[in-house]
Amino acid sequence: MRKNQPLEDKSDLTNKIVSLCKRRGFIFPSSEIYGGLANTWDFGPLGVELKNNIKKYWWDKMIKEKDDIVGLDSAIILNPKVWEASGHLSSFSDPLVECKKCHTRFRFDYLKKGKYGEIELEDGYPQCPLCGGQLTEEKKFNLMFKTYFGPAEETANIVYLRPETAQGIFLNFKNILNTTRKKIPFGIAQIGKAFRNEITPSNFIFRTREFEQMEMEYFITPKEDKIWFDYWKKERMNWYLSLGVKKENLRFRKHEKNELAHYAKEAADIEYNFSFGWLELEGIHNRTDYDLMNHQKYSGIDLKYYNNETKEKYLPYIIETSAGVERSVLTVLTDSYTEEKDRVILKINPKLAPYKVAVFPLLANKLDLVKLAREIYDDLRKNWKFQVVFDSRGNIGGRYYSQDEIGTPYSITVDFESLEKKDVTIRDRDTTKQVRVKIKDIKEWLDRNL
Ligand code: GAP
Repeated sequence: MRKNQPLEDKSDLTNKIVSLCKRRGFIFPSSEIYGGLANTWDFGPLGVELKNNIKKYWWDKMIKEKDDIVGLDSAIILNPKVWEASGHLSSFSDPLVECKKCHTRFRFDYLKKGKYGEIELEDGYPQCPLCGGQLTEEKKFNLMFKTYFGPAEETANIVYLRPETAQGIFLNFKNILNTTRKKIPFGIAQIGKAFRNEITPSNFIFRTREFEQMEMEYFITPKEDKIWFDYWKKERMNWYLSLGVKKENLRFRKHEKNELAHYAKEAADIEYNFSFGWLELEGIHNRTDYDLMNHQKYSGIDLKYYNNETKEKYLPYIIETSAGVERSVLTVLTDSYTEEKDRVILKINPKLAPYKVAVFPLLANKLDLVKLAREIYDDLRKNWKFQVVFDSRGNIGGRYYSQDEIGTPYSITVDFESLEKKDVTIRDRDTTKQVRVKIKDIKEWLDRNL
């Protein structure tokens, strides 16, 4: 028996990104001083800016710029009946096997696909890829995290952390209809944490047990489901392209009948070409009237929509777009990571960059340069809309490279000419070209070029 380790990243790109993220303050292993907690991550000062910029861009494109979509922020812990009605209690599970020798647990479907490397078969049944031990029979393992609501740890008080944000949207369908007077077709969108007790969290922030989703549920008349499914596939692909993700690294993958989620009639993933393979970045589902129908049945509340013009009353179909925030972060980092002969650059779309501008004095020991650079920095920090950073450590070349590595699109340098002419140089991250701009015009120049 050959020992197999999980066969994941062929190019070492993920290792480079993980290392950059830790070194520069994008993403840290969580609970690190206690030895960490399997595949749990914390977003540091730069990571939280990148994450927030992605969420804001999604919110702007999906809600602010659209007339037919409204936002929501629903609770994480819902009445447990919700998960009975939604089918998650009975069907939201993965196949689990355990090694009888080393007790490692595996997703059986991944083992069968050879996800853990080249598995040697014994009587047509995989062995443990780590130690060669015999595996237990396959069991269904429900992915929802359980906890108790209130102080009494009794069965009656069991509740679940939501495994998708979508159910909060379905529960508020009527509230939103009544308060916004939206007419079908219209959408409800929200961003929030979701939790899944994944058997094998893996690949850095790609698969974790706690993550954020950006979900939108679009309510339509049943007969238009094909039109809207295709429409949202296109819209969502265009969103990733507008983030600057390279077209050749994105593709659709249609779900086969036997892999459809329990609520879906049709589904397509937007996949990204991660360094560990083509994998799901976002799911687009035709959920039909499955969710509203079940919530209507379990709650006894009429959730039908009444069309005033046609006098029709019906349960709308739902087209869902569901994106992972962390997977978008990983996509942006992977897609923008560039090595040039003497520097690493994150060629992030300026819209998403954690810092939009860095401000430096040419020399740290010349007080009049430092004073003017500080004044420019303070003015931008207080009177301009984006995040700015000040740096006076080391030499100017090192500072430029340091900003390139975290994706800062522009660096402003105050030099001796600045004192006389009241101008600065602004250096472009990607081309390294510099232009001189009057201090009074900096904000306007940046607004024009970002
Ligand atoms: N409401 C539908 C739904 O949740 P999904 O395909 O299970 O559909 C949607 O999940 C998205 O959520 C995925 O495309 C992915 O981006 C993200 N996601 C799901 N599980 C994840 C996990 N364990 N870690 C990180 N992101 C995850």
